[in-house]
Amino acid sequence: MGLGDLSGLAYPWDTLAPYAVTARAHPRGIVDLSVGTPVDPTPEVVRDALAGASDAPGYPTTQGTPALREAVSAWFARRRGVPSLSPDAVLPTVGSKELVGLLPSLLRLGAGDVVVHPEVAYPTYDVGARLAGASTLATDDVEAWAGRADVRLVWVNSPSNPTGAVASREHLARVVAAAREIGAVVASDECYAELAWEEPYASAGVPSILDPQVCGGSHDGLLAVYSLSKQSNLAGYRSSFVAGDADLVADLLATRKHLGMIVPAPVQAATAAALGDDAHVAAQRAVYARRRAVLRGGLEAAGLVVDRSEAGLYLWVRAEGGTSGAPDARGVGDAVDPAAAPCWDLVAGLAGLGILVGPGTFYGPAGAGHVRLALTAPDERVGEAAARLAGA
Ligand SMILES: Cc1ncc(COP(=O)(O)O)c(C=O)c1O
Repeated sequence: MGLGDLSGLAYPWDTLAPYAVTARAHPRGIVDLSVGTPVDPTPEVVRDALAGASDAPGYPTTQGTPALREAVSAWFARRRGVPSLSPDAVLPTVGSKELVGLLPSLLRLGAGDVVVHPEVAYPTYDVGARLAGASTLATDDVEAWAGRADVRLVWVNSPSNPTGAVASREHLARVVAAAREIGAVVASDECYAELAWEEPYASAGVPSILDPQVCGGSHDGLLAVYSLSKQSNLAGYRSSFVAGDADLVADLLATRKHLGMIVPAPVQAATAAALGDDAHVAAQRAVYARRRAVLRGGLEAAGLVVDRSEAGLYLWVRAEGGTSGAPDARGVGDAVDPAAAPCWDLVAGLAGLGILVGPGTFYGPAGAGHVRLALTAPDERVGEAAARLAGA
């Protein structure tokens, strides 16, 4: 078995470089809303926990400390409507990108197997499947894969990167039922769950795949993937975990022990502290809510349209009157030339205002009409972007 077809796999963000040059040349400087890396300080409570655990001469356990796994279980009960997650069904990971990229391999998928991921999606779902030698199906339509025995893994991502769409309990329950019929694993990437802006999710929370109303009270075949990178400004710590089906988690643990993918002991302590403190998450949420309102105001004043974006760290934006720009995306999306997609006109126009954004084609052909703007710039820069947009 080979390493899968990864030929031609350029890192897409590199193609933004010329637009960054244009944006940097703006007399009042660049506003970089492209990658979405957190810019606010790591909370004191988390830094203290990291420092307090800095004497770490021995190897940490791959499984994670009981304190960390109990903190994950308590967080799911308190914040996500998941009352009965055993700490034994929790596994820390080195950032969730690691888990997303390696899950198909860790599940021993390969040639002939199919990994389903959202139609407009974080690219690592696709790369991870191809690395394992599996093929992918990009769709949000359960009927497109229901009953197919070759589908072995189904990714869902709610709230979505890049669209900010939230999946309802009903949709998630349909995914779970269809996956269970064919024995496929459902992996639910939920890393923006604490950043919900619109109702009902702002008040009631974003549904987890492990919610009893979604999964019928059984975690069989289900994995929730979570990261503290965004909600707690911990992207630099690589603080994440996976939780759900106890047998699947035990199997992942056994393999990862061999591979040496261990979360450092100070990061384990910091993660437990972060999960135990809801106050800093609420404060960060308020910061993003403010930035989101300012940026959205500027975009709408400029005649641009914000679609979905009911949760998460991004605004999903198109030109007024613009369509997805990818009429063929559902069937023959690969035939669309990503370099000629309408989103690049928006990228170029915004770069002229000194605002750097991500083109929707980075997330698949169906993103061709949109650009993604991250809320991760300091208040002053977001205000600057909104003022430039309003004056444009
Ligand atoms: C949908 C999604 N999943 C996973 C990740 C990876 O996050 P991390 O590796 O920082 O935990 C990201 C990061 O942007 C993301 O947007």
